[in-house]
Amino acid sequence: MYDQLRPDERLIIDAAKREGIDLALYDTDQLAWDVTSTHDGIELADAFLQRCMSYFRSIHVTAALEARGKPVINSFKASSTCGNKLIASIALSRAKIPTPRTFVAFTQEASLKALQQLGYPAVLKPVVGSWGRLVAQLKDPESATAILEPREYMHPIQQVYYIQEKIKRPERDIRCYVVGDQAVAAIYRNAPPGEWRTNTARGGVAENLPVTPELEELSVRAAEAVGGGAFGVDLMETESGFVVHEVNHTTEFKNTVRVTGVDIPGMLLQYAISQVKA
Ligand SMILES: Nc1ncnc2c1ncn2[C@@H]1O[C@H](COP(=O)(O)OP(=O)(O)O)[C@@H](O)[C@H]1O
Ligand SMILES: [Mg+2]
Repeated sequence: MYDQLRPDERLIIDAAKREGIDLALYDTDQLAWDVTSTHDGIELADAFLQRCMSYFRSIHVTAALEARGKPVINSFKASSTCGNKLIASIALSRAKIPTPRTFVAFTQEASLKALQQLGYPAVLKPVVGSWGRLVAQLKDPESATAILEPREYMHPIQQVYYIQEKIKRPERDIRCYVVGDQAVAAIYRNAPPGEWRTNTARGGVAENLPVTPELEELSVRAAEAVGGGAFGVDLMETESGFVVHEVNHTTEFKNTVRVTGVDIPGMLLQYAISQVKA
């Protein structure tokens, strides 16, 4: 299931050809579904890899597929948890996974109160979003006000203020890929010059990181905490060990495949097949 065929989806198509897997491509632009009927003649595959870039599109398509009894990687439960950073932070902390201290507030005034408790610098994030977009550093009350003010003129989802302690970390973070109950590959993402965010979409540079038992244990626990499936777990290094700051449910992997040589697309396909009900 896709909305755009990125290089990552093309790698999945290549892996399917290589392994002789019968892969059907479903362009969600073309879907017109009667979700109240199971007799609309749409032929569905045995299992689905959900690859829509749009979070909103992906969870709605996944809900419709699960209603037809089809396994979807990732499930509605996991994607709707991961796709909202606040719900994900709650799931991680309930599972006792080390994660940055995070507040939610709904007004500028309450956000400044939260910031007083968290201290500066802090980080403001949209609850739904990726690639580091709108992820901003709040350095003091003045800059916090300047950054919060325009959000009042944005979509109401941008007025769910997700405010987090800024972690003291090296100029990099870690992305660890979990498929089922295994951490299959990991990379450092080194921040590009002049940028504190490490997203490869912002120029962050991927570097192979052999998976250690500590990294695997924490990443697999984080994956389980959001409902299990296949994920890109984002972690940061602190003086007292790793913290998990995000679990991504529709993950890009082309840079990781390039630097680690691990066949992530092949593993995703095998995992989807393993979920087909007997
Ligand atoms: N609490 C934090 N402390 C320090 N750096 C952070 C923190 N949260 C995020 N970052 C940096 O910002 C990047 C984007 O944040 P993230 O929560 O992963 O959102 P996105 O979904 O946009 O990737 C991270 O990869 C990391 O480099
Ligand atoms: Mg991220």
